[in-house]
Amino acid sequence: MSASDPQSWSGEPAEFDDYATEYEGGLDNPIKRLMGSSPDQFIAVKARWLLRREPALRTGGLSVLDYGCGVGSLMRVLIGLGAKGSFTGCDISTGMLRQVERRWPRELGAPPQLAPQQGARTPFVDASFDIVMISAVLHHVPVEHRPAVYAELGRVLRPEGRIYVFEHNPRNPLVRYVTARTPIDRNAILLDASEVRHGLLGAARYDLDTDYLMFMPPGLAFLRGIDRLLTWLPMGAQYAVTARKAA
Ligand SMILES: C[S@@+](CC[C@H](N)C(=O)[O-])C[C@H]1O[C@@H](n2cnc3c(N)ncnc32)[C@H](O)[C@@H]1O
Repeated sequence: MSASDPQSWSGEPAEFDDYATEYEGGLDNPIKRLMGSSPDQFIAVKARWLLRREPALRTGGLSVLDYGCGVGSLMRVLIGLGAKGSFTGCDISTGMLRQVERRWPRELGAPPQLAPQQGARTPFVDASFDIVMISAVLHHVPVEHRPAVYAELGRVLRPEGRIYVFEHNPRNPLVRYVTARTPIDRNAILLDASEVRHGLLGAARYDLDTDYLMFMPPGLAFLRGIDRLLTWLPMGAQYAVTARKAA
């Protein structure tokens, strides 16, 4: 088996099983807490951006996979902001997946479908999803295993579907400072948007573009307009790579 074979690392215990019960998105870091008072404020920046990118999420009918969904925060916040559709989450950590159901608010209806991964591999058939999102996952995946993740994202995406990769931006010095001091990021290896673009293109044909997000602290709602003017500037705390799969 090669190092990038999806099956070759499936036997290892999942790092995030240790964090699952107390998981709060790295907000135990005091600097991050100054920027926003709850993990949902950080997630909502991505969710609002996605709802602008994918207006059909408001009308329903799309199938959406959250790859490495953790405790389900992105799906929960998206649905809380009005997204409709068929949502599925998968993760390498069964401890995190258990938390999705425990934390899912009843007022949002039934929790999403959930599935454990075997390494990079998911149990879904080819071309199952209109949208695949992967948020704050790749920097936890060892570099040699990332090609298997890119291949899996492309495998489960239908032709003309979209992948959305959200990541911490290592070009932002505050991001580097905070991640170096956050317990859940102990083993993280940050990657910039060009690495994501190259990785995706190594697996399939896509049209790609990149937006930069989170220039202003997510807790300060009145500054959101500034974020929307700066999406071209590669200094935001987060970035979003969009990959549209060929027909
Ligand atoms: C920082 S959490 C992010 C969770 C969620 N995507 C979010 O944005 O809130 C990272 C998640 O990636 C998962 N993860 C780490 N390595 C992974 C891998 N190789 N494949 C899939 N998920 C992985 C972890 O189990 C964890 O749930």
